[in-house]
Amino acid sequence: MQTVVIDCDPGVDDAAALLWAMAEGAALDLAAITVVAGNVPLDWTSTNARRLATLAGRHDVPVHAGCGRPMVLALETAEHVHGDSGLDGAELPPPASELAPPHAIDRLIDLAHAHDGLTICAIGPLTNVAMALVKEPSIASRLGRIVLMGGAIGLGNVTASAEFNIYVDPHAAKVVFESGVPIVMLGLDVTTQVRPTPARLDALRALENATSKALADMFDLYVSRASDGGALHDPLAVAYLLMPEAFRGRDCHVEVVTEGVCRGRTIVDVSGRGGRLANAFVLERVDGDAVFQRLLDALRRLP
Ligand code: BDR
Ligand code: CA
Repeated sequence: MQTVVIDCDPGVDDAAALLWAMAEGAALDLAAITVVAGNVPLDWTSTNARRLATLAGRHDVPVHAGCGRPMVLALETAEHVHGDSGLDGAELPPPASELAPPHAIDRLIDLAHAHDGLTICAIGPLTNVAMALVKEPSIASRLGRIVLMGGAIGLGNVTASAEFNIYVDPHAAKVVFESGVPIVMLGLDVTTQVRPTPARLDALRALENATSKALADMFDLYVSRASDGGALHDPLAVAYLLMPEAFRGRDCHVEVVTEGVCRGRTIVDVSGRGGRLANAFVLERVDGDAVFQRLLDALRRLP
């Protein structure tokens, strides 16, 4: 079974990713959840991850708080999409557990040493992951891969050219893409192929458990607030861990722009014209119906 850490900033679509991963105990060894500031400040993301673990009945998964701001720039958040709490739209239980020691950076380092070939599934700004690589560069050769939601081949969603996770901490993204760790990139090109349509949210509600109802309620608000109707961004990173055969992609060189009007842009050399070695497997297509069906099958198992 693959051992995974999810580094996240919940966030409504992070919530779907976390609940899905927590429902897949037979397929994923979820060693820890590490949280970072992103969609909302760290106090909220670290509370939200524990509320979701409580909702899913996964008291065994430790939640570690990480960085409260990007490496260089000031934090920019997305309450206008996810709400002031990050998970507006549903009544969630208070967290049943405390935050676990140590700091997320040290937990990532410890887990990389303990598990040869560890997978980091990163669905928020990449600050914690980059800081772990900066603090302990030797983990680069221990990590199996980083599967990340972020970036885009084409247009951005926070500026004309930048996707939110890379935009918030472009310096961290640069460290990660230049780390030598095998990277799987799920950018907007693939995540926007799976939308939380009314039919899909109805199917979620029809599961008739408290967790799925709460998730559908949060998605209702998220869809109404997202300027493009929203997409199932972060759960697709979990989908890739579970069913890579549902995706198509190619090896590319990816460069991150850290400054200026293109801050946070990922320049993806799809054609290979730049002649630089590929540093990521960039996903381009997904079978959205297959992915959503497995999400439903998993959430059916939750309380
Ligand atoms: C990404 O940005 C965040 O708002 C979402 O949680 C997702 O990780 C999509 O651009
Ligand atoms: Ca996220």
